[in-house]
Amino acid sequence: FLKLTLFTGLAGTAYVSYQLYREKNPAPQQPQAATFPNGSPRKTLVILGSGWGAVSLLKNLDTTLYNVVVVSPRNYFLFTPLLPSTPVGTIELKSIVEPVRSIARRAPGEVHYYEAEALDVDPVNKTVKIKSVNTEHEYQLDMKYDYLVNGVGAQPTTFGIPGVVENSSFLKEISDAQEIRMKIMTSIEKAASLAPTDPERSRLLSFVVVGGGPTGVEFAAELRDYVDQDLAKWMPELSKEINVTLVEALPNILNMFDKSLVDYAQDLFKQDRIDLKLKTMVKNVDKTHITAKCGDDLTKVPYGVLVWATGNAPREVSKNLMEKLEEQNSRRGLLIDEKLQLIGAQGSIFALGDCTFYPGLFPTAQVAHQEGEYLAKVFKKLHKIDQTKWELAQDNTNDPKAQSKLNRLESQIQPFHYEHMGALAYIGSEKAIADLAVGESKYRSAGSFTFLFWKSAYLAMCMSFRNRILIAMDWTKVYFLGRDSSV
Ligand code: FAD
Ligand code: NAI
Repeated sequence: FLKLTLFTGLAGTAYVSYQLYREKNPAPQQPQAATFPNGSPRKTLVILGSGWGAVSLLKNLDTTLYNVVVVSPRNYFLFTPLLPSTPVGTIELKSIVEPVRSIARRAPGEVHYYEAEALDVDPVNKTVKIKSVNTEHEYQLDMKYDYLVNGVGAQPTTFGIPGVVENSSFLKEISDAQEIRMKIMTSIEKAASLAPTDPERSRLLSFVVVGGGPTGVEFAAELRDYVDQDLAKWMPELSKEINVTLVEALPNILNMFDKSLVDYAQDLFKQDRIDLKLKTMVKNVDKTHITAKCGDDLTKVPYGVLVWATGNAPREVSKNLMEKLEEQNSRRGLLIDEKLQLIGAQGSIFALGDCTFYPGLFPTAQVAHQEGEYLAKVFKKLHKIDQTKWELAQDNTNDPKAQSKLNRLESQIQPFHYEHMGALAYIGSEKAIADLAVGESKYRSAGSFTFLFWKSAYLAMCMSFRNRILIAMDWTKVYFLGRDSSV
């Protein structure tokens, strides 16, 4: 047994060291010539975004086949599943990002990256207008593409509710997590300077989260953990005054989970003193209060920090594209066909992830990731098709054999098939829920063991070994040293 343990340990260490070495020292990359050896031109593939969909495509794409250009205002990939853990310091922000440059550098063929935002797509002339993020070195240009992949994700929705943008924080980006942390710590320090009887003190210590989807639930749970597990040691009296409230318009939170798991989560929230306000729809937000409708009554809830997590809305660049194509008539996202081609764009634009709307596909990392993998395969086949078309055009023949080869290649592009693995959510007090799907079978579990499973699943999902190690170290650090309470 000892020998086996020693052998497994050594083999594991060697494997991790090898992977880390490979990540740190990528193999030489092939520069991209304008043409292939047979003289055919290399097509330009522009990928918009550096999120789950775009990065999954990039990691799986044979980049030697195209002139690959990535355009994204964010020069890193963000591992969103652990973003709710960052404002309270369970996980450090640096642990859940991976630079686009490293991902691009590890691809077999050269990849060009522009730190820019796509403003507008012209599907007729096949150009995309981009604008640099850096305002000191500002540029705007029209980039030509042969194929475009839209993976710009979505922006937080406010449903046009007055006061949300001005007074609340979203939880979508690194900057949001930093802002929330700053607001929490500032509110706590301000409250500490006031007398316990001062009503302003209790307002400052009221932390409200709107939206009982997984983002709102996971953040509320992390916040309660921070208060109970860490703040309670450093500011015992003040920590008892902190209220965490979760407001949800529907009768239940976490509506994509099985009812038994929802009940489990709601019961745990009651035990953990997370004040759940169900069937409560926020209608207005001002500097200090939210106003919500509950049945026929309007209630006002004071807040010191307000986090808004009510789901997704399309980004401007996607909205502009929708307006240009007659067939795009959904306000929920870009309509795509079963091969992820943008409807109305005649095969030159593809879209994946949160910017799209396709019945049965939800805006999750899991979907975007699988779509990226699928598109990488599609582009390999498209390259073969384009090469065959080019050769046919050179021969200038109508050879039926060549035509049938083309048809055969085209028929090889199968529709995208989504494999749902299930859903996981952290619900606080080192407990998680899992609604898993393995083939036709469903497995449900909740509690501390599921929390360990949640941790290992997220470690497995990470984009790099570097991320895995940093995240594992963060968890260990919090276990032994607790969370940091400074800004
Ligand atoms: P994103 O990952 O959002 O990436 C979009 C990219 O486009 C970004 O790089 C952005 O900078 C870039 N971009 C934006 N505008 C432009 C522009 N104009 N031009 C060019 N680029 C642009 N899903 C799960 O399955 N499991 C989870 O546990 C989970 N947890 C989550 C936790 C949080 C807090 C959040 C917010 C989401 C979570 N999700 C989870 C959902 C998941 O993150 C999204 O479904 C996923 O990120 C969608 O991938 P995407 O590539 O479409 O978009
Ligand atoms: P969501 O769309 O899943 O949930 C938003 C919630 O806000 C809904 O329950 C809605 O009823 C509620 N709401 C809307 N307007 C409201 C109002 N005015 N007042 C009160 N409540 C209101 O949004 P979320 O959580 O941001 O997730 C977005 C996507 O990311 C989802 O597809 C989700 O599945 C995915 N995600 C998955 C995670 C996981 O699997 N662990 C974690 C986080 C996000």
